[in-house]
Amino acid sequence: MNYLLFSSILLLTPSLHAFNLDAFSKHIDSHQEEYVEALREWVAVESDSSDALKRPEVEKMMEITAEKLRKMGGKVDLVDIGNQELPNGKIIPLPKVVTAQFGNDPKKRTVCVYGHVDVQPAKQEDGWATEPYNLTDINGNLHGRGASDNKAPVLAWIHAVEAYQALNIELPVNVKYIIEGMEETGSNGLDAMVSQRKDTFFSDIDYIIISDCGWLSRRPALTYGTRGNCYFFAEVEGPKQDLHSGVYGGTVIEPMTDLIGILDTLINPSGRILIPGINEAVAPLTDEERNMYENIQFDMENYRKKIGVDRLMYSTKEDVLAHRWRYPTVSIHGIEGAFSASGSKTVIPAKVIAKFSIRQVPDMDPSVVEKQVTDYLNAMFAKRNSPNKLRVQMIIGAKPWVADINDPLYEAGKKAVKKVFGEDPDMIREGGTIPVAKTFEDVTGKRIIMLPIGGFDDGLHSQNEKMSRYNYIEGTKYFAAYLHEVAQIPKV
Ligand SMILES: *[C@@H]1O[C@H](CO)[C@@H](O)[C@H](O)[C@H]1NC(C)=O
Ligand SMILES: [Zn+2]
Repeated sequence: MNYLLFSSILLLTPSLHAFNLDAFSKHIDSHQEEYVEALREWVAVESDSSDALKRPEVEKMMEITAEKLRKMGGKVDLVDIGNQELPNGKIIPLPKVVTAQFGNDPKKRTVCVYGHVDVQPAKQEDGWATEPYNLTDINGNLHGRGASDNKAPVLAWIHAVEAYQALNIELPVNVKYIIEGMEETGSNGLDAMVSQRKDTFFSDIDYIIISDCGWLSRRPALTYGTRGNCYFFAEVEGPKQDLHSGVYGGTVIEPMTDLIGILDTLINPSGRILIPGINEAVAPLTDEERNMYENIQFDMENYRKKIGVDRLMYSTKEDVLAHRWRYPTVSIHGIEGAFSASGSKTVIPAKVIAKFSIRQVPDMDPSVVEKQVTDYLNAMFAKRNSPNKLRVQMIIGAKPWVADINDPLYEAGKKAVKKVFGEDPDMIREGGTIPVAKTFEDVTGKRIIMLPIGGFDDGLHSQNEKMSRYNYIEGTKYFAAYLHEVAQIPKV
């Protein structure tokens, strides 16, 4: 045998191990009920991170997660990430972050799976057909708060590693986990924790994997981008107290009229943003991208009906997808200080604060957007010649994230999808924001892939959230296959 060839085969040995999907499928299928039971236990923990009174439940959830990983022989830590100050001034501890590690072979690649085990609030009275924290199987759909976002995907990643262990197959990569309990309320404390561990926990990681989103249709998808978000408060302050419109109306320049006037200059009725500089900053749509949109499986009619509107802003699938994913938009969320109760109070509010946000896309930069919006609103306000005072503030400035779909990381994802689901995935983006993706990328300098297994109709953050058994179980096989595929990327 040619010595050189022989030695290169030795070096490549891990990659020559074929992935035996049948063995994994058999194992995972036969443990399906255990996986569903594990999800039932996790969903039963009301780990609502938005409610400080539920904080012990979130802590319990972190403990349960850590214990599961410990039992599998992982090197597990519960990391203290400090405190949180509540709006009432009270200080409470943030839920600890779970980190875990399986394997530390320097010859192998190391991936890190990010996930969260906190959930959005849910009450049966909100219109749930089932008790939200009692996982209920209806026609193969597992209904429960947090089932899809993000407990089943986290469990699927854990069970994928467990399957390697049970089958006595060496893990093709070292696997780390970072699992938090504050995602639904803004991942408080996580950025600092990631920064502090840049040269320790994150130093030997090659790639970060996030499975905290869903498919667009019944066809599997890989997610390669998320929009960012700049959230603004615009405050107009006038008289020193609220006034009666019968007594004072007609003699004062009303703050609410000023505010509505300037809000109406942000975007026109056909969806064009009117703030100078914003549209110019948007990366142009390439032919390649447009072609990709044409082939994506997306049911516009179903989308429109689900929303319950007569007409969408755009009439073609390509335009709707592009405006959901790769163009910015302005949304007006509310006006603090405005009269909003039922009835007909004739008040002139003295101070009103508009809340609006602009979804961010490449190549927009939140700090530039902050200035563009502030200057523009000040100019529009000046035109009104009002004696009232305007104050514009940017509260959140989350950057967009986009990956190169030709990255070997994504090629590995396509191969794993093809193996398990028998078809090619749609390459999609998320209209929403997963700020942690950008943080991971900026702080650690590592590449990120999003491998969703949630269904398009899972109802995240909504009533009757569910995860289908199919997506959960096949998703577990898919993650096992991905660990194999990602190990094949040559180390350079
Ligand atoms: C969950 O729901 C099932 C079926 O409706 C019921 O039998 C069970 O008692 C419930 N469990 C809890 C803890 O509420
Ligand atoms: Zn989530």
